[in-house]
Parts: sequence; structure tokens; C-alpha cells
Amino acid sequence: MKKRISLTQYLVEQQRQHGHIPGQLRLLIEVVARACKRISLSVNKGALGDVLGSADTENVQGEVQKKLDVIANEVLIEANEWGGHLAAMASEEMEDIYAVPNRFPQGEYLLLFDPLDGSSNIDVNVSIGTIFSVLKKPETGAERREPHTLGEADFLQPGSAQAAAGYCVYGPQTTLVLTVGDGVAVFTLDREQGSWTLTQDGIRIPDDTQEFAINMSNKRHWAAPVTRYIDECLAGRDGPRGKDFNMRWIASMVADVHRILTRGGVFLYPWDKREPGKAGKLRLMYEANPMAFLIEQAGGAATDGRRRILDIAPQRLHERVSVVLGSKNEVDRATRYHLEADANPSSNPLPPLY
Ligand code: AHG
Ligand code: MN
Ligand code: MN
Repeated sequence: MKKRISLTQYLVEQQRQHGHIPGQLRLLIEVVARACKRISLSVNKGALGDVLGSADTENVQGEVQKKLDVIANEVLIEANEWGGHLAAMASEEMEDIYAVPNRFPQGEYLLLFDPLDGSSNIDVNVSIGTIFSVLKKPETGAERREPHTLGEADFLQPGSAQAAAGYCVYGPQTTLVLTVGDGVAVFTLDREQGSWTLTQDGIRIPDDTQEFAINMSNKRHWAAPVTRYIDECLAGRDGPRGKDFNMRWIASMVADVHRILTRGGVFLYPWDKREPGKAGKLRLMYEANPMAFLIEQAGGAATDGRRRILDIAPQRLHERVSVVLGSKNEVDRATRYHLEADANPSSNPLPPLY
């Protein structure tokens, strides 16, 4: 019989071999994985569990929350607040950070999450997911006498500082995808045993692809470099690229990124003219950073059109960002088109520099 490796065994062995998963981080990952299992149960119940439809509330981004957005957020908080591995959490669905209550011990890590990604797909039974990012609580200087009260500023670290990142896709299979900075591993939920089993390790994204993902309905609002890149893909074999491209858009970033990790591709959610004051639709801390970490760990690339996403110094917790990620050569090309347009500003319109 083929030997199965559980999530726990994988984490313990990684720690033994490479020493980069201290006890608190291992506990944190296991607790997040357990919370995802609970969320997946709610997702699977669907109409039978009264989890579909709107919660009739708004989040800090002004988006109407779905019942599952709220449920998933609560599950993640409840699961993570008492274990002693966390100092605080931040969520796409909460305006302020959530410090671990005083009655529990305070740990060394900060957890950020998009509890339910792809909310528009919940009610139509299309893949959705949970995305998470882990940061270390910043050291408080030895000279500081009074106890440090955690605040938003402690979370404002660049994506390159992440200790771990991952996502869970609730789709035909439930899969947990994880990086602790040493490649990307995939675990599949075995529903009969209730356990996560390693099903893929060391994932590599091909450098080249003929598949792109973008919401084409926004085409008229795009900036010139994005239009140039996509038009060239659409021109196919007869155009400057000399090959045909295929398009996929699931409208759940987790599912689009999962496809790209599995077989390559490029994903774009660029700045557009609908809301020129916003850098993009996706959120840096809960979506772009964890996905950029995973994509880079699998040999791909992730930029905001100009800069490496993981290098961006965040200014605000709920900051938004343009995203281009996936197969390296395509991301490099789309990024080059932005930089060329910056050097030749007559090609209008250009996204503002953030
Ligand atoms: P969320 O459900 O967490 O708000 O995120 C939705 C995001 C992302 O998952 C997806 O790629 C994108 O929004 C879909 O946007 P469109 O509605 O423009 O397709
Ligand atoms: Mn999302
Ligand atoms: Mn969400």
C-alpha cells in the first residue's frame, strides 16, 4: 500500500530537516487547516445548512457580505484565538485588527485572511476558498518599558516577510495548498478519515503558457499596457505572439490561482478607470501577498504591473493592489509593457503610480 503522509507528519518532517517550522507555527497551520475543514463542511451543506445568500451586512470595503463570508470569518477566529500561537488576526471582513483576548496566552504570530474568496460563486455552486498569510509579530525593542499594544502598524510588513501562506479550495475536491518558504505542497482532504493527506509536493509552474485569466468585461476601462498585452494574446497565431491563447475566468481568485499552480497560466486583475483612485480590486494583505508568495515558491512571478508584489511596503491594512501573476515569461512581458508605457507616457491612459 502506498504510504500516506499527513499534514502533521509533513510539518514535523519539514521542521526536522530544515528547522523552519517552529512549534507555534506548526500549531497555527494545523489550526487553520482544521478551521478550513469546518468551513468546507458548511460549504458542502449548501441550502441544507442555511448558508447560502446574503447576510444583509456590509464589510469595511463596502461590499455586501454573504452568510458564508461571516460564518467563515467566525470559524477562523474561534479556532485561532485560544491556542497561544497568535498575537492578533486581521481579516478582509473586519475593519480593525482582532487582538487575542487577554484571557488567552499571546503567541508570536499574526494571521491575516480572506475567509471566503469568490463570494459571488457561493450560491451558484462554483469553487470558492479561504486564503491566509502568516507574519511574525515584530520584535518590541528591549528599551520599551510599557507593554506593547498591538496595532495595525504591526501588520504593515511587506509580503517578503511572510512566514507562511496558503489557501484552501472548496471545489470538487477540498485541497489545502501551503508554503513555509521551501516550495509548495498540496494536501487533499480525505473526508472519510477527516485528515489532510499530502498529494503533491514541490509544485513548479511552467515558465510559458497559452492560457490567460482576466475579467474581459472590464476591457474598456483598462490601461494601455493591459490592453496591449491582452490584444496580442487575442490575435493568436496571426498576431505578434505567433500562437493561440485560451481564456479562463472563474471569478474566484483561489480557483484561478490553483489552476495556474497546476498547469500554468497568467492571471490579471489590473487597475482600471472605473475607480481610478483605487490601485486595484484585490487586497494586498489578504489576497495578493499570500498568492504571490505561493506563486514565487512554485517558480512563477507576481507583480503589480511594475513592482514585485512581495516588495510592496503596505501603507494600510485594507490596501488594494493591481495583480499580474503566474507563468514567469508572461508576467515578465506584461510587466515590461507597463514599464515601457511609463517611459513613453503618450500611450494613454496609464495607471497612476502608487
Ligand atoms: P472576494 O469574494 O473575497 O470579495 O474576492 C473576489 C475577488 C476574486 O476572488 C476574484 O478574482 C475577483 O474578485 C472576481 O472579480 P469579478 O467580479 O470582477 O469577476
Ligand atoms: Mn477574495
Ligand atoms: Mn472574501
